[in-house]
Amino acid sequence: MNKIEKEKQTSSADKKRIPAPCVIVIFGATGDLTKRKLIPALYDLYTEKMLPEKFKILGITRGKLSDPDFRQRMKKAHDEFSKSKDTGDQWERFSESLHCCPIDYDSRDSFENLKKTLQKIEGDYNIPGNHLFYLAIPPSAYLPVVQQLGVVGLNKPVNGEWTRIIIEKPIGYDLKSAKELNEKVGEVFNEDQVYRIDHFLGKETVQNLLAFRFANGIFEPIWNRHYIDHIQITAGETVGVEGRGGYYERSGALRDMIQNHLLQVFAHTAMEAPVRFDADAFRDEKVKVFESVKPISNEEVDTIAVRAQYTRGKMDGKEVPGYKEEEGVDKNSVTETYAALKLHINNWRWAGVPFYLRTGKRLPKRVSEVILVFKRIPHQIFQSDTGLGDGEIDANILAIRLQPDEGISLRFGAKVPGQGMKIKPVTMKFDYETTFNTKLADAYERLLLDAMLGDAALFARHDGVEASWRILMPVLEAWENSTVKALPTYEAGTWGPKEAEELLNRDGCWWRECL
Ligand code: BG6
Repeated sequence: MNKIEKEKQTSSADKKRIPAPCVIVIFGATGDLTKRKLIPALYDLYTEKMLPEKFKILGITRGKLSDPDFRQRMKKAHDEFSKSKDTGDQWERFSESLHCCPIDYDSRDSFENLKKTLQKIEGDYNIPGNHLFYLAIPPSAYLPVVQQLGVVGLNKPVNGEWTRIIIEKPIGYDLKSAKELNEKVGEVFNEDQVYRIDHFLGKETVQNLLAFRFANGIFEPIWNRHYIDHIQITAGETVGVEGRGGYYERSGALRDMIQNHLLQVFAHTAMEAPVRFDADAFRDEKVKVFESVKPISNEEVDTIAVRAQYTRGKMDGKEVPGYKEEEGVDKNSVTETYAALKLHINNWRWAGVPFYLRTGKRLPKRVSEVILVFKRIPHQIFQSDTGLGDGEIDANILAIRLQPDEGISLRFGAKVPGQGMKIKPVTMKFDYETTFNTKLADAYERLLLDAMLGDAALFARHDGVEASWRILMPVLEAWENSTVKALPTYEAGTWGPKEAEELLNRDGCWWRECL
């Protein structure tokens, strides 16, 4: 194929990624997620000409709001959070697609009214009945909304059109409630209509982890227990609980970040190559990873899991309050703002290779990264200058930076110039922004578009969600049943508690400083 033919093929592939005309129905239209993520992402897609020619966004609110008032509110959200700034009358034109409809979750009439509103919009603007429902509402409202949609028949696509529903995390509070939610949603919608969003999967770099592994020949042969000593997955955040104390108190770091985002990254790192990149083949492989995780016994929880809470400290030279001083947080709270966990996978590829996962609020740096630490060389013939002080040449490290400064770096030993043979670690880097000279799209852009296109590969499937809860249940139960009155602490602006260091030190390793 020559270059022109190739370009033609690429652009027609891109064209195929324009969804069919549809109405996006957002429950929770005046909430934080809609304001910060959904409207900005939809607007950015619009400016990139990725939305269908005909589309409407119907914002569902608890109270009555006129279309102009709704548009005004969304304009503010757009000014603050959209990636693309206004050029000409783009916002004006986009905002014509915004409509609003009040709802009472407990009232069938209210949902009948929603149905009529949808029919009217579709009739007025000649849009087929393709519906994407987005539940950007508190989890306690998921089932009432799902059930009412079923009662009024809005769950069923008609005349070859499609109906899909996006559900935000948390999917359940534990394994039992996740199963119940999946079951009840499954009574109203078919699994292929349900899109469980985990926004980490929409991040370019999390997808690039797959490209890196499965579009290159040189890494896969060494991506296993024969060459890798251990793997570290970090999602560090500098923010505290940001006014979400009430939510966070019931969640904690393990539920908020590890059950979903970190375990998804873990699965991308550990999975086998799917036979093709379609939703089921891909998700089958991820579920296999979750199911191969060595079950955690009650007795070992204290040796493989660490939890802690931040106390008052300094971030960027500014004093910040401790977790227990945050609004909405119990003064005697034992909710963890930091969690670290060691997992093993019982399969041929990974037997004996520890995976260390950690996440925390109020850490010194916002960074999400996967670090592969390779085995050290078996016999050393040169002197080392690693600064580790043990005279040994350090291991090779492959670091996949998910955010920010997205990229990949490889650390290896090089000869220090001059006499003798001294080895010093050096780093080879690829960074996204300079290489592709582009700002990466927000994860919600990708995921909203995929849901409109009916591509569920980057969404969690019910069995995957349940399998990931199953991994964590022994830890959650042990923590819940524990009678401790206070958790280990770490000062805001530091890398977590000493217990997390000890978790690795016991195995002769340490948390690698993000490169
Ligand atoms: C959310 C968590 O799912 O992810 C938040 O609820 C967390 O507590 C956020 O801050 C992190 O996402 P990102 O994309 O900012 O790293």
